[in-house]
Amino acid sequence: MNDKLDANGTCVLVTGGAGFIGSHTVVCLLEQGKEVVIVDDLSNANEKALDRIAQIVGEEAAERITFVRADVNDRAALDAIFEEFDIDSVIHFAGYKAVGESVEKPIEYYSNNIGNTLTLVDAMRDHGCKKLIFSSSATVYGDPDALPLTEESPKKMCTNPYGWTKWMIEEILRSVAFADPEWDIVLLRYFNPIGAHPSGLIGEDPKGIPNNLLPYVSQVAVGRREAVHVFGNDYDTPDGTGVRDYIHVMDLAAGHVAALNWMSDKSGCEVFNLGTGTGTSVLQIINAFSEACGHEVPYVIEPRRPGDVSANYADCSKAAELLGWKAQYNVADMCRDSWNWQSHNPNGFEG
Ligand code: WQD
Repeated sequence: MNDKLDANGTCVLVTGGAGFIGSHTVVCLLEQGKEVVIVDDLSNANEKALDRIAQIVGEEAAERITFVRADVNDRAALDAIFEEFDIDSVIHFAGYKAVGESVEKPIEYYSNNIGNTLTLVDAMRDHGCKKLIFSSSATVYGDPDALPLTEESPKKMCTNPYGWTKWMIEEILRSVAFADPEWDIVLLRYFNPIGAHPSGLIGEDPKGIPNNLLPYVSQVAVGRREAVHVFGNDYDTPDGTGVRDYIHVMDLAAGHVAALNWMSDKSGCEVFNLGTGTGTSVLQIINAFSEACGHEVPYVIEPRRPGDVSANYADCSKAAELLGWKAQYNVADMCRDSWNWQSHNPNGFEG
């Protein structure tokens, strides 16, 4: 039994809890009085995020965190965690997430993302813990026929192995829930998470050249890179650049807590979109970021990036109705908080 578990709190295992979305979610869980066990191999995260989490939540709440440095595929490590702690539920973030890299390394992506999920659910079943939230992605909607995307919109072809891992893991988890009604599984389909904790102590810290728009824009703004490459200005959108539903990572974190609170005593597998419902173009993002950082962020127009869709944004009414959750932050808030993080940590957690 976990001697740290108090009578009111429940203990949540967070895989990938030192990463971008994971670390923000851990903060929200601690603020809700939960105990948190983080399992992370730090392959794409920085241990300093853990100190920063502690700084944000304060000493007392930080005592409710346990960090285990391990790969989720390490069954013995998972068994040891389930034996030591009375884990009530699991939030599964850990996985490789670089779209371009997944095209180069499909075997690593399928093996790691799908393999670690199978190891995790097998361990959960053996230890009688059957409540799971999985980090899915709007990428499963592929090139949409109609907008906004609801949870009923069809899943379509993905354009890269990363996307397929999310697509397939969703189906695996549906099968798991179908086979055994004791399972209670929630698939959260994130749109485009950006922003950072308002303290500026934690945020997105990609290794190497960022693939995603916001980290790239903020590295240009801070002077680490010359100009943003805008991938295409000939899409069928108001200004010709790609439109996405950007969501503040704090809203996303709150969505996990809302889902967790909603889940108790449920059965089956439920899916929710987590977005704002508003589409924003690449140029609108660059303008909003320029406002936030106080100077123009330079950009150049480039050809379209293969595999990109022209536009997507979410209908989030299901999450509002069932989870009582709604995004609170707008794009200006997201850019302000991304900039606050980036300008205070120009080289991410390394300074
Ligand atoms: C957003 C918009 C680009 C970079 C991907 C994954 C998804 C999820 C989030 C991640 C598009 C344009 C981008 C740049 C640009 N998973 N862009 N210049 O492609 O919507 O989603 O990341 O872990 O599953 O598919 O996000 O941020 O890469 O792009 O013009 O340097 O910005 O063309 O219109 P995307 P993104």
